[in-house]
Amino acid sequence: MGILTLSAGSRKPNETMRILLTTFFGVVFGFLIGVSFPTLSLTKSNKSSGFFPVIDLAYSEGKSGSETVLSPLSSMKGKSSSSMQAPNSNDTSKIWVPSNPRGAERLPPGFVVAESDYYLRRLWGDPKEDLTSAPRYLVTFTVGYDQRKNIDACVKKFSENFTILLFHYDGRVSEWDEFEWSKNAIHVSARKQTKWWYAKRFLHPDIVAPYDYIFIWDEDLGVEHFNAEEYIKLVKKHGLEISQPGLEPNKGLTWQMTKRRGNSEVHKITEEKPGWCTDPHLPPCAAFVEIMAPVFSRDAWRCVWHMIQNDLVHGWGLDFALRKCIEPAHEKIGVVDSQWIVHQTIPSLGNQGESQDGKKPWQGVKERCRKEWTMFQNRLASAERTYFRTAGLAPPNSNGH
Ligand SMILES: *[C@@H]1O[C@H](CO)[C@@H](O)[C@H](O)[C@H]1NC(C)=O
Ligand SMILES: *[C@@H]1O[C@H](CO)[C@@H](O)[C@H](O)[C@H]1NC(C)=O
Repeated sequence: MGILTLSAGSRKPNETMRILLTTFFGVVFGFLIGVSFPTLSLTKSNKSSGFFPVIDLAYSEGKSGSETVLSPLSSMKGKSSSSMQAPNSNDTSKIWVPSNPRGAERLPPGFVVAESDYYLRRLWGDPKEDLTSAPRYLVTFTVGYDQRKNIDACVKKFSENFTILLFHYDGRVSEWDEFEWSKNAIHVSARKQTKWWYAKRFLHPDIVAPYDYIFIWDEDLGVEHFNAEEYIKLVKKHGLEISQPGLEPNKGLTWQMTKRRGNSEVHKITEEKPGWCTDPHLPPCAAFVEIMAPVFSRDAWRCVWHMIQNDLVHGWGLDFALRKCIEPAHEKIGVVDSQWIVHQTIPSLGNQGESQDGKKPWQGVKERCRKEWTMFQNRLASAERTYFRTAGLAPPNSNGH
C-alpha cells in the first residue's frame, strides 16, 4: 500500500498506511456496523482480507466470458475460494444458490442484502423508523480544513435530498463541527490522498447504490451560480449519464468542451483547435468532461468505478476514457451550461507532496500526474489489444486519443 502515497519518500510505513475512519452518529458502512470503533486501522497484515478487492473480482468475473483475459484474476480466485465449492448436489439439506452474489451462495436469496447506503441510523428504537429521509443523491468533496469556508458555501447549494460525504486529506475532522451540517455528514479521513483514491475505496457501487446521481467534486469550486436540484433536473431532461457544470472561462481553461455557454442549457459537442480532435464525436470535442467536478448516474458510476486503478491516484487520463462506459457517449456525456461553476484553482493537495531531488513538492506531484496518465493509457490500450486478440476479433480503429 506504500504505492498509494503521494511520494515514496521517508514517511514511516505505519503512519502512511493508517486509515482513519471517523464517523459521526454511528455508521460509515452498512456492513461495518459497530458502535465501538471511532477509529479503524487497516495495516499491511490485514490488507489481503480487505473486502474491496474481493468485491472487485466478483464483478470482473461476472461480466466477462473469457477466462484467458482474466487469468491473473482467476488464479487469485482459486486461492481465495477453496472452501466455497458447490456442495454435493445430492445434499438437499444445504442451501446453494449460484445466482447469489459470489461468496453468499450458502444463504437464502431472500435474506441476502447485496447493497448498502450511507444513511445514518440511530442506536435505539424501531429500525423501521430510523430514517426520516433517504436522500437520492450523493455529493462528495475532498477537503482540507483551510477550504472550509468554500465547502460550507458549496454544501449550502445542495438540498436535504443529498447525502454529504467529506474525504479529509489533512486529518482535521472534528473541527468541521463548527458547521451544523457537518454533524449529519459522513467523514472519511486518510492523510494526503486524492479524491480518486477515496472514490475507489469508499464509493463502491454496491455502497452508493441508492443514489441516482453521485457528485465527486474538488474543494476549490465557486458555486454562486449553481443549484444542485436544478442541475439534476437538466441532467435528467437531457439524458446525461456523465456530466459537469459549465466552467466560467475566467482563467485560461484547457478545454473548449467544459467552457460554459451563455445561451444554452446543455451542450454535448464542441470544436477544438485544429488537429486536436481526430473525430468530432471523441474527446476533447465530445464525450468528455473533466475530473474536477464530474457527476455520474448510478449506472455510469458502476462502470467508472471499475476503471479506476488502485495505484493511479490523480485520475489524469480518466476523463478521456470515461466514454468507454457509455453508449453512445457523445449523446450521454455533456456539460450543463445554465448551472455553472467557477474553477478557483487554489493550490491545495498539490502542495502536500514532498520535496525530492531539490524539486518543489508541486513539481513532483505534476510529474507523477503525467506518469500516471501514460501508465493508464498503456494499460487500457494493452488490455483492449489482448481482449480483441483473445476473442479472435479485429481491433476497431483506435483513434480515441
Ligand atoms: C447422488 O445420489 C445418487 C443415488 O443415490 C448416487 O448414485 C450418486 O453417486 C450421488 N451423487 C453424488 C455426487 O454423490
Ligand atoms: C427533494 O426531493 C423531492 C422529491 O423529488 C422534491 O419534491 C423536493 O422539492 C426536493 N427538495 C428541494 C429542496 O428541491
